[in-house]
Amino acid sequence: MIDFNKFEKYSRPGPRYTSYPTAIEFNEKFSYEEYIKKLGSQNRPLSLYFHLPFCRSACYFCGCNVVFTSKEDKKERYIDYLFKELELLKKYLDTSKEVVQLHFGGGTPTFFSSSQLEKIISKIKETFPNFTKDAEVSCEIDPRFLTKEHMEVLAKGGFNRVSFGVQDFDPKVQQAVHRIQTFEETKKAIDLAREFGMESVNIDLIYGLPFQTLESFKKTLNLTLKLDPDRLAVFNYAHVPWLKKTMRKIDETTLPSPSQKLAILKHTIDFFTSNGYKMIGMDHFAKPKDELFKAIEKGELHRNFQGYTTKGGSHLIGIGLTSIGEGEDYYAQNFKDMRLYEKALDEGRLPYQKGVVLNLDDRIRKAVIMELMANFKLSIPKIEERFKIDFKNYFQKELEELKEFEKEGLVKISPSKIEVSETGTLLIRNIVMPFDAYMFKHGDGKKVFSKTV
Ligand SMILES: C[S@@+](CC[C@H](N)C(=O)[O-])C[C@H]1O[C@@H](n2cnc3c(N)ncnc32)[C@H](O)[C@@H]1O
Repeated sequence: MIDFNKFEKYSRPGPRYTSYPTAIEFNEKFSYEEYIKKLGSQNRPLSLYFHLPFCRSACYFCGCNVVFTSKEDKKERYIDYLFKELELLKKYLDTSKEVVQLHFGGGTPTFFSSSQLEKIISKIKETFPNFTKDAEVSCEIDPRFLTKEHMEVLAKGGFNRVSFGVQDFDPKVQQAVHRIQTFEETKKAIDLAREFGMESVNIDLIYGLPFQTLESFKKTLNLTLKLDPDRLAVFNYAHVPWLKKTMRKIDETTLPSPSQKLAILKHTIDFFTSNGYKMIGMDHFAKPKDELFKAIEKGELHRNFQGYTTKGGSHLIGIGLTSIGEGEDYYAQNFKDMRLYEKALDEGRLPYQKGVVLNLDDRIRKAVIMELMANFKLSIPKIEERFKIDFKNYFQKELEELKEFEKEGLVKISPSKIEVSETGTLLIRNIVMPFDAYMFKHGDGKKVFSKTV
């Protein structure tokens, strides 16, 4: 049973740990030349992320890197640059390696026309000819921008997973966040995905949006259930108006209070778990037959920039504006500014802007944080063996800090493992923070991170 009484005290700013070190530690000390060397020296199968950044209009809650446009030529121009990037990658990366994962993220990938998407997919397949049979090939979709032709192209291109942005069905909430999307529109899009045989349909919801109440969110949940998704992500709204201008259009006095948010979260968990779903990680739900769930049972769930995945240990190549790549011992990010992204490619350079090379301490902490974030337990001997350290000595201070969580019943520490309790799973960001060696740099983290609760 989850004890929600503990939560308010832990509401503090903190990273979401889709990477460690987190993206704010990326810098330009990791040079272009070093990056090129890293690209060629990773001994792992490939995972590809393509950022397709365009949207027609702004959803005020959106924390993603997007470009608003209604101009067709901007999209065509972007495709030309993506192709330049792919051509250059061939020079530095063995693109004949196996590809185990491909993800189109946004922005709104389906804001490109079906023929534009087809062009992009065929160029990808030409550049990377060795997709494994069971590769996970997925696309984020805004149901308002999806046609039968899009779905045809995705299915033909081997896409087997789709993720639909819904957020909330309440018209008042939708109006406040500038995202009007009817239930019928969403249903039509999901029916289309099923018609074309998509193996997995995901729906994204967000709690913590303006005007949401427990009663209003209950209606959203009932409608969502009618759509019978295979997976769900129910994100805690990350409100960072100092970073995202459009969030300033949200009247903060209309945001639900922390206790309202907790009531919503509590109800959401009860609702989905009593309707045949299991909770995965801190914000996902899936049907028990889902491979994510099988991965948890085997302790093989991983965390990366797309959230939770079964495909760990691959070499992630980020392609397109702002994309982030990840190797065994580095992270690399492309330019966020379109002009600089294009300029690099015009000069015959990959659009790499900044990143970080992980030293041994970073790699040890990354292993600990990611294992706890994904599997909610950590085998201490496994870390000791892998990194040749004495865990108790190495993490003396951190284990001391964890005792506070142990007293609260959020974790259990023994000589061989750290185990997170059911209540602790929802406070996992707080629980792994003591292992983050960079946290101290950011003071109380206000104006840097969103709130954990
Ligand atoms: C790039 S968007 C999805 C693609 C598509 N543009 C759409 O909106 O349907 C990815 C997901 O991130 C989540 N998201 C975006 N901004 C967020 C924020 N500030 N806090 C929490 N989740 C957020 C939303 O649930 C959204 O569906």
